[in-house]
Amino acid sequence: MRIDIITVLPELLESPFSHSIMKRAQSKGLLEVYTHNLRDYTPFKHGQVDDYQFGGGAGMVMMPEPLVNVLEKLKNDRLYDEVIYMTPDGQLFEQKTANILSLKENLIIICGHYKGIDERVREHFITKEISIGDYVLSGGELAAAVVVDAIGRLIPGVLNDETSALFDSFQDGLLAPPVYTRPADFRGWKVPDVLLGGDPKKIDTWRHEEALKRTAERRPGLLKDEHQE
Ligand code: 6GU
Repeated sequence: MRIDIITVLPELLESPFSHSIMKRAQSKGLLEVYTHNLRDYTPFKHGQVDDYQFGGGAGMVMMPEPLVNVLEKLKNDRLYDEVIYMTPDGQLFEQKTANILSLKENLIIICGHYKGIDERVREHFITKEISIGDYVLSGGELAAAVVVDAIGRLIPGVLNDETSALFDSFQDGLLAPPVYTRPADFRGWKVPDVLLGGDPKKIDTWRHEEALKRTAERRPGLLKDEHQE
C-alpha cells in the first residue's frame, strides 16, 4: 500500500511512522508513506496556502490552488482508491473503516488546518472525510498518523502471530479480555487459575465471557450494535 499525505507540517509526521510496527511494515515493502509539503505547491509568495474566508469571520481557509496542484500531480502518476480529508466534521473513524482501508492500494490523505479547506475541493476531489473523535485538534496531522497506524498494522503480512490483530479489541465487536504475564503470583495478586490450567477450550470460554463482561460494563453500546450472543 502507498499512502501520500498532504500537509503544511511534514515534520510532525516523521516520527510516527519511523518505529516499531510502522517501521517494519515499510522495511518489509508492504507500506510506503510519502509526505508532501503543501507550501511547495503554492504559486503564491512566501509559501502562502491559506486566506481569509469570504463573508467574513475569524479563521483562515486553505486555498484551492495549492491543494489541487498537488492532488493533480499525484493523480496523474497513479490511480488512487480514496482521497481522504481529515476533519473534525468527517465520519467517525472505527475499526471497520480501518479494515476496509487496509485492503486498498493507493490512498491520499489531506491534513486540514485553520478553518479547513475550501468547500470546492471537498466537492470535487475528496472521496472520504474522516474524524478520529468528537474533539478538536489543531491540525489533521496527528489524526492522519492515527489512521495510518490503524490501517498499516492491518495490511496483510505486517503483523505476525505475536502481534496478530485477530484478537484486538473491536475486531469481533467486543473489547479485549484481560491479559497476564509472569509471574503467576505478584505480591500475592494471582493470575486466574483457568489461564494456568492449559485447557484451550476453557481458556477461550473464559476470555469470551470476560470480553462480554468488560464490554457490557464499559461500552454497552457496542453490544447493541451487532454482537449479541
Ligand atoms: Cl481529523 N482533525 C482535527 N483538526 N481535529 C480532529 C480530527 C481531525 N478528528 C478529531 N478531531
